[in-house]
Amino acid sequence: MATVYLNGEFLPPEQARVPVSDRGFVFGDGVYEVIPAYGGHLFRLEQHLARLRRSLGEIRLADPLSATHWRALLQDLVARNGGGDQSVYVQVTRGAAPRDHAFPKETQPTVYAASSPLKPLPADLAQHGVAVITLDDIRWQRCDIKAIALLSNILLRQRAIDAGAVEAVLIRDGVITEGAASNVFIVRGGVLVTPAKGPFLLPGVTRDLILELAVANGVPIEEASFTAGALRHADEVWLTSSTREILPVTRVDQQPVGEGKPGPLWQRMMALYQAYKQQVRERGEDVAI
Ligand code: PDD
Repeated sequence: MATVYLNGEFLPPEQARVPVSDRGFVFGDGVYEVIPAYGGHLFRLEQHLARLRRSLGEIRLADPLSATHWRALLQDLVARNGGGDQSVYVQVTRGAAPRDHAFPKETQPTVYAASSPLKPLPADLAQHGVAVITLDDIRWQRCDIKAIALLSNILLRQRAIDAGAVEAVLIRDGVITEGAASNVFIVRGGVLVTPAKGPFLLPGVTRDLILELAVANGVPIEEASFTAGALRHADEVWLTSSTREILPVTRVDQQPVGEGKPGPLWQRMMALYQAYKQQVRERGEDVAI
């Protein structure tokens, strides 16, 4: 039986109740994180907690817990749910208060965390890769905040699914920002390129790890914008996220990427990523690259 955490208590999910006046429910006024755990160890926890703290700061909500408390709570949650490979969801909202756009005074934030088994990657990933479509980035101008208000991301992702693709890759002012729930990389002339951080994309924890692994292993990297045309003509295209790791994109808008198969740098990076995960599984989460 799964256990969730809500405002200081571990509970069965059906007993975890939030008032309907919660500002997360009414306004989408909150932020979240998704953190994978491998072999019961939370992966890149420090980086996820730093991003959570940053998101909270950007929406002017004090972090309700210390880093030590977050760490203990989330490790406890993973252990209570049987360890192994899990996906941990953490959400903090501005709490329950009479509906008013202005911040409530003295309202306690709502703190919720749950975990579920991590879904395995598609078995045929290395043979076929995945398809994406490109769409206009219709989101707001603070995509760097991991906000729970995801309506545009949901609409964009659904359009991709409806078109038989797995993700929508987004274009703003002629350049690629990111996916609806992933960061985007291209390989161009042996260089791994991903857009620089800024207000129009989420600073992905997986993105940063891949850049670190690339640097440590002599793969040239560039943090720079690129156009939809550059995406279409890239040698390789990847999507990255905590739950899907590195997905090789083999079709963009129904056209093949490169030779239409996952590329050699994806294979190399995937091997480095799996080796890093294995170290985490064996030794705990703080592994130096
Ligand atoms: N999403 N960009 C967006 C818009 C995202 O929602 C995500 C992750 C990423 C990748 O970030 P990271 O590598 O830190 O997971 C980029 C999560 C997994 C989700 O919403 O489920």
